[in-house]
Amino acid sequence: MKKLLIYLLFILLLSSCGKVITISNKQIIPQDFTNKISKYSTYKDEYLNYYYYTYLDYPNKTYIEILNYVNYPSFYDFSKPAKALNINGLLLVNRKFYLEEDYYPSNLVSITGVNYVKRENEVMMINEDVLKAYKEMEIFAKQKNINFTIFSSFRSYQKQLSLWNPSRPASDKFLAKPGFSEHQTGLVLDISTLDKGLTIHFEDSPSFNFLESNAHKFGFILRYPKGKEHITGYAYEPWHYRYVGKEVAYIIWKEKLTLEEYFYKYLLL
Ligand code: DAL
Ligand code: ZN
Repeated sequence: MKKLLIYLLFILLLSSCGKVITISNKQIIPQDFTNKISKYSTYKDEYLNYYYYTYLDYPNKTYIEILNYVNYPSFYDFSKPAKALNINGLLLVNRKFYLEEDYYPSNLVSITGVNYVKRENEVMMINEDVLKAYKEMEIFAKQKNINFTIFSSFRSYQKQLSLWNPSRPASDKFLAKPGFSEHQTGLVLDISTLDKGLTIHFEDSPSFNFLESNAHKFGFILRYPKGKEHITGYAYEPWHYRYVGKEVAYIIWKEKLTLEEYFYKYLLL
């Protein structure tokens, strides 16, 4: 009994040091856990201990999330940049995943026929499908006496560079570095009302309530939700909507996920 205790303590000590534990300690992992998790194609035998300890630390994570947590340890590490992910046609651009300087989306069109903020020497552009979805949403909103206005849309790398100011660290919470902005995808609209503008006060408006309940029906998600700042790396932005298509938007809305969590849970297989 004493020997067993010492052995268990030894294993715990090793695991807390992050060392790879030899195969022999698998006997402390319940067989049921091993059976279930090993059915997934991304399961790696040598990581079984890590999967199990992740499960103990985060019992609410799904098996896929546990596998991803262990298999892709740098996914949420913003200090290690990587090229933007594109899985099943879904783009992930965030503090870690960036677009090249010369990335310029195809099928951009000028924004017309909807309310938008007109600025001198600026033609607002957005992906064609996104404009179509937005127009449908605007028509539906108007039937409910809801109005909003587009404040910004596609931003090129150069445009983001002109906005980004490294000497103002506070703006870093709201503004992405050039290459790391989702606006460069052409799939993002900043939406608010003229009186609230791009401020936190937009969340107190009926227009925001409408978007909260309906944006997903048209393929949009609130990209930087409140309470998920540690995952997105940005402050809550009630105005920033990303087009992901209706199916993905529905899942993200229903399960209250961020796009990062959606990738983790469903795409990094
Ligand atoms: N406001 C978002 C984070 C951007 O600059 O892309
Ligand atoms: Zn934005």
